[in-house]
Amino acid sequence: MLPVELEQKLEEYANYFPKREQAILLCLHEVQDHYGNIPSFALERIAEILNLPLNHVENVVSFYDMFDRGEPAKHRIRVCVSLVCNLMNKKSLLDAIRKHLGIGVGEVSKDGKFKLIAVQCLGACSEAPVFMVDNDTYKFESEEKLHEILSKYT
Ligand code: FES
Repeated sequence: MLPVELEQKLEEYANYFPKREQAILLCLHEVQDHYGNIPSFALERIAEILNLPLNHVENVVSFYDMFDRGEPAKHRIRVCVSLVCNLMNKKSLLDAIRKHLGIGVGEVSKDGKFKLIAVQCLGACSEAPVFMVDNDTYKFESEEKLHEILSKYT
């Protein structure tokens, strides 16, 4: 069972669309924002609310790299590792994150605050190298600027 407020939010999304299943991405984002990942019990509940088979919901989660079923963290840092960001020195960005937080790709900081995830193109190639913290997109400019950005997330 999910917390009452979360249940209500998912129901609200499901009722908003002509077909309940159209709310799937909103529901998954809401659950991930709540738990820091998408736990199995929440996947099952989303499937029930949207009247979808569980494997359909699982397939959607595994298709999009924005959804995370692994170890939870309060905030997710998603670093683009696609071609343009690679050419524009995404290695410096990964090095700066490792230096600042002590984590590599797929790892969670000791305080549970940040998880580093490598993803494909974030659609902001003109700003490469690019990373996201939760739903915010940033251009990597310097280690100092990175520290400043990360310090905004409590
Ligand atoms: Fe990195 Fe497109 S290649 S945002």
